[in-house]
Amino acid sequence: MSATLPQSVLVVGAGGREHALVRTLAASPATPRVLCAPGNAGIAAEVPCFPVAADDVAGLVALARRERVGFVVVGPEVPLSLGLADQLIAAGIPVYGPKADGARLEASKIFTKEILLRHKIPTAPAAFFSAAPAAIAYLRARPAPIVVKADGLAAGKGVVVASTHAEAEAAVRALLAMPAAASVASNPAQILIEDCLTGEETSILVVVSGRDYVILPTSQDHKRVGDGDTGPNTGGMGAYSPAEIVTPALLERIEREIVRPSVHAIADEGIAFCGTLFIGVMLTPAGPSVLEYNTRFGDPETQAVLPRLATDLLALLWAAARGELAGFKLTVRPEHALCVVIAAQGYPESFSKGDVIHLPSAARLPSSVTIYHAGTALSAAGQLVTNGGRVLGVTALAPTLPEAATQAYAACDQVQCSTKYFRRDIGAKQLNRR
Ligand code: AMP
Ligand code: GLY
Repeated sequence: MSATLPQSVLVVGAGGREHALVRTLAASPATPRVLCAPGNAGIAAEVPCFPVAADDVAGLVALARRERVGFVVVGPEVPLSLGLADQLIAAGIPVYGPKADGARLEASKIFTKEILLRHKIPTAPAAFFSAAPAAIAYLRARPAPIVVKADGLAAGKGVVVASTHAEAEAAVRALLAMPAAASVASNPAQILIEDCLTGEETSILVVVSGRDYVILPTSQDHKRVGDGDTGPNTGGMGAYSPAEIVTPALLERIEREIVRPSVHAIADEGIAFCGTLFIGVMLTPAGPSVLEYNTRFGDPETQAVLPRLATDLLALLWAAARGELAGFKLTVRPEHALCVVIAAQGYPESFSKGDVIHLPSAARLPSSVTIYHAGTALSAAGQLVTNGGRVLGVTALAPTLPEAATQAYAACDQVQCSTKYFRRDIGAKQLNRR
């Protein structure tokens, strides 16, 4: 491991994930100076924030230079797909986060599916289309339910799990007509149609550096907006770690059949990947199967995973960036973490912004509870207000999952905001299994 850790770190992004990254990096024994761009109200209360948008690649490189930043940790996918890591490396600034060729594993689902199929990594069979008639002819010959996906980045709106052929046909037309996202998707007017898998999902976050990797603690997200996994998909409404459904034996199988082959396949494809490979895995009756790759930390998984690390996160990410990850030993705390996302009423569709939030004072919260900010801002009058769909992430770390849930929900109830909405059943699947 590298003896000297960087003395300053710039975290790029503005969500709950970035607040957790900022907190955890700032707690490093190396006591780095931590900066964030653009950040949010909660991050700005802790570290200096700079008003440079997360997709302003040139602005971020200039900021990193001006502030003499020794290391950049990138949160979201869009700047990665726009080549932020490439530009930082060209400027001689070490970065954790893949270059654009690696970010394509998230930015193009067709690119990833081709790699998965070529390397025989378990995943649902799929076909690719750029015109509706052929797509519809294909899906009519497959059983429903069936899944229709846009190729490119779509901020969570690019996947339709259609329960009928009619619904799938409507999705084909809608996704083919969808405007390109602010990304370098290979071809925004392309879709995949893939077989529907059944089972529970788990998020496997892997810190990757070339052919070396470290698997982070397991977690489970809650993607649907409503209790009991109902309603539309969101960015994620809550998470907990560990995901006990992933037993040690199952994790070994996931590593053998999915993680190691994926890391090796990416390297064999000529991609020098440094960053988080976040593998969405469906635990099907036939075994674990890859739903997707993301090339960044998950949100809200990160808010449940990072509090469980006993290892210095800065040392881990720095080792990855330096190509010194081989043999890195991770130490994980035995406690359970549970994060409940407080969203604005109406998310993921339309919601208001600017609603006043009153947080419980630190004195009224147990030390086991952390409130991460996501879509928050300060109003002109200096009040904390909502500024996005997902507003806060309330994480509790406790000896058992029921205790973590009780503490997180007690804190959620103390948050005052006229438009607050949160699921009441984060962790319920695991709690009910016991
Ligand atoms: P993705 O962005 O590809 O992970 O898809 C978003 C969500 O859609 C996943 O987390 C799953 O809940 C669901 N999904 C994606 N692909 C499939 C599939 N082949 N079968 C069932 N559900 C899927
Ligand atoms: N929580 C899922 C994601 O970060 O994509």
